[in-house]
Amino acid sequence: MLKKVVITQPLPVDRLKSLSGQCTMQVLDGSQPLAEALSRDELSACHGVICLLTDAIDPPLLEAMPNLQFVSSVSVGVDHIDVEALTRRSIPVGNTPGVLVDTTADAAFALLLAAARRVAEGDRYIRDGQWHPETRWSPDFFLGKDVSGGTLGIIGLGAIGQAVARRAAGFNMKVIGWTPSGREVPGVDSVSLEELLLRSDFVSVHLALAPQTHNLLDAAKIATMKPGAVLVNTARGGIVDESALAAALDSGHLYAAGLDVFEREPIEASNPLLQHPRVVVVPHIGSATTLTRAKMVDIAVNNAASALLGQPMPHCVNPEVYAA
Ligand code: DGY
Repeated sequence: MLKKVVITQPLPVDRLKSLSGQCTMQVLDGSQPLAEALSRDELSACHGVICLLTDAIDPPLLEAMPNLQFVSSVSVGVDHIDVEALTRRSIPVGNTPGVLVDTTADAAFALLLAAARRVAEGDRYIRDGQWHPETRWSPDFFLGKDVSGGTLGIIGLGAIGQAVARRAAGFNMKVIGWTPSGREVPGVDSVSLEELLLRSDFVSVHLALAPQTHNLLDAAKIATMKPGAVLVNTARGGIVDESALAAALDSGHLYAAGLDVFEREPIEASNPLLQHPRVVVVPHIGSATTLTRAKMVDIAVNNAASALLGQPMPHCVNPEVYAA
């Protein structure tokens, strides 16, 4: 009998071709959490899940899925998945690294430039009808912060952090970096997190969200950032304490922020960050280009196809399950 795979949101049908004949697919519409969208019997009959970063693959769900054999996420981050619990059950978890590196680094740089040069604020200014002949141009009109020649501190020197460093070199920036593993990267001066925060005109976050990185940039750390600095986050919202960030912007300690990710997504309309004119926000679109998203889906489908054949997933975050 064919195995059953649940796909938590519609994916382009032509990209699922390699799974047809290998399994039965149940494609959900994504309007409800998996645990509510499927009955107890449907969950129990499920052998594989292809999910998104919006799907919580947590202990109560896993408990209802005794026949689960793999989880394949269309994301590089896996903080929505209880990987430890799956590893204990020897269930592989697939992700989609590599293909979104440049796209996400581009997004981080776009936010950095937009925040420093007040791009979103200027756009709103014109659309709101505030650009009048008397405010046409003056030497102190809409001044921003120089990016070229500034110091960029990169928190997390994995593939995306390194791609951001390459872009910064083109802007003649001094690049310093800190990563929990202590990894050395050519072109980036490794410093402690404390030194990075103290020296950087721009700080860009590129870490995975994990218990050790949750609220890594808390009120105390934000207070040590260089006055007038700009914070960019395209990693995960939970890494930065949003209330502390809003307070630091309101007090004028920080100049601006460019944010793609938030502790709660979608961000609530009452979030104080949305009140600050120099906070540039976009809705978790760091990897959102047509080509990159197609590649991410292909990798996730390929991971699932391998798991269905009983082979190791090409991109697996808990490869130790294969040794067991
Ligand atoms: C991921 O894949 O984890 C990214 O956040 C998507 O942009």
